Amino acid sequence: MFSSRVPAGRRVNRLSQAHARLRAQGIEVTDLTESNPTRVGLHYPPGLLDALASPGGLRYEPTPRGAPEARQAVAAWLSQPSCFGDSPVATASREGAEAGRVSGPSPVDPERIALTASTSEAYACLFKLLCDPGDRVLVPQPSYPLLEHLARFEGLEPVPYPLEYHGAWRIDGAALTDAIDPRPRAIIVVNPNNPTGSFLAPDDRCALTTFCRERELRLIVDEVFNPYPIDPLPGSGRSVLERSADVLTFVLGGLSKAVGLPQVKLGWIVVDGPEDEVDATLDALDLLLDTYLSVSTPVQLAAERLLTEGTSLTEQIRARITANHRILARVVAQHPAAGLLRTEGGWYAVIQVPATETEETLALRLLEQDRVLVHPGYFFDFPREAFLVTSLLPEPDRFEAAVTRVLARTTGR
Ligand SMILES: Cc1ncc(COP(=O)(O)O)c(C=O)c1O
Repeated sequence: MFSSRVPAGRRVNRLSQAHARLRAQGIEVTDLTESNPTRVGLHYPPGLLDALASPGGLRYEPTPRGAPEARQAVAAWLSQPSCFGDSPVATASREGAEAGRVSGPSPVDPERIALTASTSEAYACLFKLLCDPGDRVLVPQPSYPLLEHLARFEGLEPVPYPLEYHGAWRIDGAALTDAIDPRPRAIIVVNPNNPTGSFLAPDDRCALTTFCRERELRLIVDEVFNPYPIDPLPGSGRSVLERSADVLTFVLGGLSKAVGLPQVKLGWIVVDGPEDEVDATLDALDLLLDTYLSVSTPVQLAAERLLTEGTSLTEQIRARITANHRILARVVAQHPAAGLLRTEGGWYAVIQVPATETEETLALRLLEQDRVLVHPGYFFDFPREAFLVTSLLPEPDRFEAAVTRVLARTTGR
């Protein structure tokens, strides 16, 4: 087994530099890291953004937590079962359909919702709210690389806690306990996680609740990919909002993934937990949000229509990731030396390949010789090699051709 313990940023740079060079030479590369939904051939209804031109947007009447009608729209969206992926496409997956029989989300109180310009901004707000510079926050590993930057930009120390794969990704409880000295202020859970696709398992949630209560930790649950189940474990809870929280919990989401509109810039935080703590937290959040008032009036006025009319995008993305996941499973099955890790949900899939060379060398070879860009696992801090991460968003024909080349190269067949 080869290991490349060079800082991930530097090594990813070599890959992006090589990609930029090929682009400059006019060489076509299939980008399997593409996660921008507006660039993968989905159909965006031409009038989808008309609601942003509402004349009401000419008046400025800011409210810290966001306009009541916008918060109401988000609450209604979160409270409908379909936002958690109960679509015919999502439930077409056999085990997904079994797991789909859940009670559905509880109604969300709009008063407990605060709007932000994005999920990334929501993290920044919560870090300011819950932590002081120098404090520690627990961050899952492997996970979304931006979490580390978001924490560091607020002067915090991100402390990784490992997820372990044994046919499904679970929190390593012993390692989590080891990571709590000195005491962190908050723990982040990504549900489902990027890129492992793992939902928070019901017993992991129970254990985490106890853990947070005993150690006075705040729970931040990033659910941007929650509307996109693919192959969830039977019985796996999907949104933590389906059951009210016993500890102070912040659930994050946004238009960027919910309806494939990252450019529109609207995110949200749902505050859940014991009532007195929620009330005090909302007061503090009001003060913080009032200092920035970063969410534009037009997007707040348009929120209801964007969430309602954006359903067609949610459905298209579900169809796309389900189709590509099926293609990937078929292609990987033809290569016994490789394996597809279980993808419970989200927009990414993880392929384990023989570690005959470093992930970096392999990713560069795939780029230079096969004209395919993939993320090496180290980009997400996988604990060992060799893993490749692919987005499930690219157009299916190109996706199939590219993953076929990836598997042929990595398994030597
Ligand atoms: C897990 C996760 N959270 C948050 C974000 C950022 O979302 P937003 O565009 O709302 O800032 C991403 C973007 O890919 C993500 O993967």
